[in-house]
Formats: sequence, structure tokens, C-alpha cells
Amino acid sequence: MEKMWAGRFLSALDRQADDFNSSIHFDSKMVKEDIEGSLAHAAMLAKQGIITYDDCASITDGLKGILSDVLEGTLPIDMEAEDIHMFVEAELTRRIGDVGKRLHTARSRNDQVALDLRMYLRNEAKTIRSSLLTLIEAIHEQAAANTDAIMPGYTHLQRAQPVVFAHHLLAYAMMFIRDVGRLDDCVKRMNVSPLGSCALAGTTYPTDRMAVAEALHFDGITMNSMDGVSDRDFCVEMLSVCSLIMMHLSRFSEEVILWSSWEFSFVELSDAYTTGSSIMPQKKNSDMAELVRGKTGRVYGDLIGTLTMLKGLPLAYNKDMQEDKESVFDGIETVQKCLSIFAPMLSTMKVKKDKMREAASRGFINATDLADYLTKKGMPFRSAYKIVGNIVAACIAGGNTLETLPMETYKSFSDLFEEDLFEEISLDTCVKKRISAGSTGPDSVMAQLDYVKAFLADAE
Ligand code: ARG
Repeated sequence: MEKMWAGRFLSALDRQADDFNSSIHFDSKMVKEDIEGSLAHAAMLAKQGIITYDDCASITDGLKGILSDVLEGTLPIDMEAEDIHMFVEAELTRRIGDVGKRLHTARSRNDQVALDLRMYLRNEAKTIRSSLLTLIEAIHEQAAANTDAIMPGYTHLQRAQPVVFAHHLLAYAMMFIRDVGRLDDCVKRMNVSPLGSCALAGTTYPTDRMAVAEALHFDGITMNSMDGVSDRDFCVEMLSVCSLIMMHLSRFSEEVILWSSWEFSFVELSDAYTTGSSIMPQKKNSDMAELVRGKTGRVYGDLIGTLTMLKGLPLAYNKDMQEDKESVFDGIETVQKCLSIFAPMLSTMKVKKDKMREAASRGFINATDLADYLTKKGMPFRSAYKIVGNIVAACIAGGNTLETLPMETYKSFSDLFEEDLFEEISLDTCVKKRISAGSTGPDSVMAQLDYVKAFLADAE
């Protein structure tokens, strides 16, 4: 096929170079955005007297026909075309003749591709946002059902202090709530129209960029034409949001994997989200969570690849930038898949409260509370801390836990110890007495559940 830009060339592009240069394999995803952009552009050209209303009507009919044929599958996208922009324009001209050649007045592929990509991504952001909300809802639901499930809270993956499972889950709700905020923020900056920047310097035609922006539901226009065609910050921001989502998902995955192991046995994943082994009949593997954890690396790769591609590029458009799309498409698609598998995996997960409690009942998880017991009786915290350390050492040496150590032994460490200490260090008390805002105590957990619920109601 002869290139639209063939005029100044004496011979054709090498076959392999043609292939190398082409982006149609991945940018055909943006066909809808490309045509919507062109429709708005043509309408503006007519309104500004740059093309006639008759020409605009033919262009509009032609473009609408192409879009519906592509969507219905009756018009296959020609993989020989250089990119989606060239494909649509060539098809338009094939259908309506020379009038089609007027569409590209006061426009360049440089502003066109920037426009298409912004439109495509802001739409994808909506899908990711709604998947995030679904996930937050699933977390809320599991948390609400597990406000009484006491488990060990960990630091350094060592049992640290008892918490309720709801509190642990709600920590993830907070992360994903921040991700929604980041996504909204990124869309705000993305949602300005670059169309009309043309190749790099703007145009001599009396265009109305604002009218095109409004027709395409943008909040405004880019202020500098060179920036308009060369800015891909929005891709980087989008991939950075995706990377953070994946980082959160991978931490969550890691915990789900640990929790489902025999060693922890805190949860059991549904058969629908686990797989077996080809050789070991007893196995039930948490493949979904492992894959989510694994795919995190790939999204980080998309982000780093895009940042590196942009690094050192002189203004304005450079062909390097064609590489933005595969990364950003892969990043959003991966996040989308991970979010949509994670939410139902979580909702169908069975929580083994007894196992959690059992794990929390050993390992001196209430040692801080024992120190607090002495402190509340007047002993300075550091001294209490030291005594409890000695008590733990004595327990370990004698095969005791804080619950089984006899009263006389306690007394030998401090006179302040009395029978009420056992009630004071019971797991339920440890949790109930956590009264600080944001703690694992019942009031705070309730407040968190309410906060998440209100967020969801507001965000829909
Ligand atoms: N396919 C190109 C891209 O994705 C479109 C822009 C081409 N512009 C140009 N001056 N060659 O970036």
C-alpha cells in the first residue's frame, strides 16, 4: 500500500522496516477514540469555516460508518496499515473519495495520537476505578464478618500483638482507597485536550481547540503545543498508579498465600480459586494469589520502560514515543485482570477463626499488655518492660506461657502482680482495651468499617 507520506520519497520503504515501523498491532485498540476525535475535529473545522458543512457531513457519515462496521466486525482492521490513524483516514477516503482527504486539515498524527491515548486511558481509568471499588467492598464485607476473629499481628513476621482479622483486612482497604484517590488525581491532569497542537507549533488555521475539547468531554486544553504533542506524563502517572495497586495486591497476595499454608491455616481459599498438582494429590495451591504477586514485576517493568523511553527525548514528538502504548496497555490490562480475580477470591475465602486464635494464644503475644499492667500500677514502662522480658525468659526455660506461669513466680518478679493479671492479659482484653483511634479495638474497627462504607457510598 502506498504511504500517505510517500510524496517526497523515490522508492518504497523496506518490507522489514515497514513492519518495524508499524504500530497497528497494538494501537488498533484506540479505533473508537480515534474516530470520535476525528468527528469532533471535522465538526469544528466546519464551524470555523475551514471546510464546508457538506464536506463535514460526508466525513461524519463516513467515519460513523467505519466505526459501526469495525464494532460489528464487518470491517477488519488492515494490519498492513502503518497505524490506526492512517487506517481510518485511508478507509474514509476509500469510502467517500477526495473529501476524506480534508479531514487532516489543521491536525497532525502527533496531536491525534496524544488525544487518542488520553481518551483511551481516561476510560480505562474508570474501569480500574470500579474494580478497585468492588475490591474495597469485598474487603469491607470480610472485615465486617470478622470483627471478633483474634489473630496474631506480626512485625518482622514474628508474633507481636493480638489484632482482629477485620483490622488487618481494613489496612488493605485504606491502601486501595488511596489508590482510588491517586487514580482520580491522575485523570484530572490527563483530561486536557492536546488536539490542535498539530505537528508541534500549532496552526495557521482559525481553529477552536476549546470547542473540540468540550465536545470530547475534556476539562480544558494543553497550553503549549510542543508540550501537547510530547507530553506522556499521563502514561507514567497511570503506570505509577498501576504499580502501586500491584504493590498493594502483591503484599496482600503474599499474606493470603501464607495464611492458606498448613503452617498458618488461617484461611482456606475456595476450590474455584486454587489449583492442584500434577503429581502431589494432596496439594491445593494458591496460584491466583501467586500470579498476582508475580505479575507485579511486569507492571513495574511497564513503568520503568516508559520512564526510560522518555528519558532524554528532545522536544517535540519522537518516534520513540510509539513505544508508550504497549507498556501502558499491558500495565492497565494486567492490573484490571488482577483486581477482578482478587475480589471474588477474597469474598469466597473461608476464615478459620479458631486457628487464628490458637496461633495468637502462644508466642507471648500479650507481653506488652503484661508490661502495661505493671505500668498502670505505677512502675515506669522501661522497668516493667525489663521485668516482663525476664518473665518471658523464665517461661521459655520452664516450658510455661504467661497464662500458665504460677502466681508465686509472678510475685517473685514484682509485688505489683495480683490475680487480676490473668484477666488483664487475656486475648479478648488485649484487643478490647486498645482504645486509641485507629487501633484494633472494637470502637476503632467499627469506625473504620463506617469510614470505608461512607467512602464507597461517596465514590460510586
Ligand atoms: N503511530 C505513531 C505513534 O504511536 C503515531 C504518531 C506518528 N507521528 C509521526 N510523526 N510519525 O506514536
